[in-house]
Amino acid sequence: MINPVIVALDGMSSEKALELAETLKGQVAGFKANDLLDLAGPTTAIKTLRRYGIVMADPKLHDIPNTVRNRTAIYANAGTNILTVQASGGIEMMRAAVATAEEVYHKNKNLPWTSIAAVTVLTSLNEEECQINLGGPVKAKVLQYARNAVLAGVDNIVCSAKELEFLNKFPELNLLAKITPGITPEWANKSVDQKRITTPTTAIKNDASFLVIGRAITKPPEGMTSLDAVQRILTEVETAEEMKSDE
Ligand code: C5P
Repeated sequence: MINPVIVALDGMSSEKALELAETLKGQVAGFKANDLLDLAGPTTAIKTLRRYGIVMADPKLHDIPNTVRNRTAIYANAGTNILTVQASGGIEMMRAAVATAEEVYHKNKNLPWTSIAAVTVLTSLNEEECQINLGGPVKAKVLQYARNAVLAGVDNIVCSAKELEFLNKFPELNLLAKITPGITPEWANKSVDQKRITTPTTAIKNDASFLVIGRAITKPPEGMTSLDAVQRILTEVETAEEMKSDE
């Protein structure tokens, strides 16, 4: 089994984040930094996290192409494996991120390839909020952004695993890796801010490439450690993969 779990190190001090990364090292694919990038500075946060696995930097860049270019260079030069941009920033903006990541890699082959991930519709938005804020139903917007990501040469999209079954019908999206946040196992405390949630089982069955999981691991229920939570999730992933290969 390829380990698909990326732990979102949200809302904690740098010390706590590193302590958790140390505990979970080797048990998960890697770690995602969001507010940690602001707290420690992107370069320090990324360089430090590189010791613990894949680093996904999640600043969700959304700006004019030139500015995205400048910021992508910082993340790529620090050794980011996966960098998020907002698909709603447009094709040119996403292309600027991809081109910059390529340039940095060709200048310094000791750095890892920085793979760009386009965030489609936040998993905190429900149908109604998506309609109001983005002007269309969730599936239509995710499809539009995913197609734009392909046109921009982006490697990954971020979406809810709820949309994967629908997206799987579109062959032009087959090569995109699907990174899915909003993963809440049955036993985890439910987060009030996440609306389009699924379990690890559903995500794996629907062909998610990576599962981004924050609070279910960082704030596990009473009596469970973060390591216990990861192990339960991995068992669930393994079972889902076996069921999939039996089908
Ligand atoms: O704690 P939880 O598992 O809900 O954390 C999910 C993480 O994934 C958060 O860091 C959030 O910013 C991120 N995310 C998301 N929905 C997206 C993109 C990223 O929840 N569409």
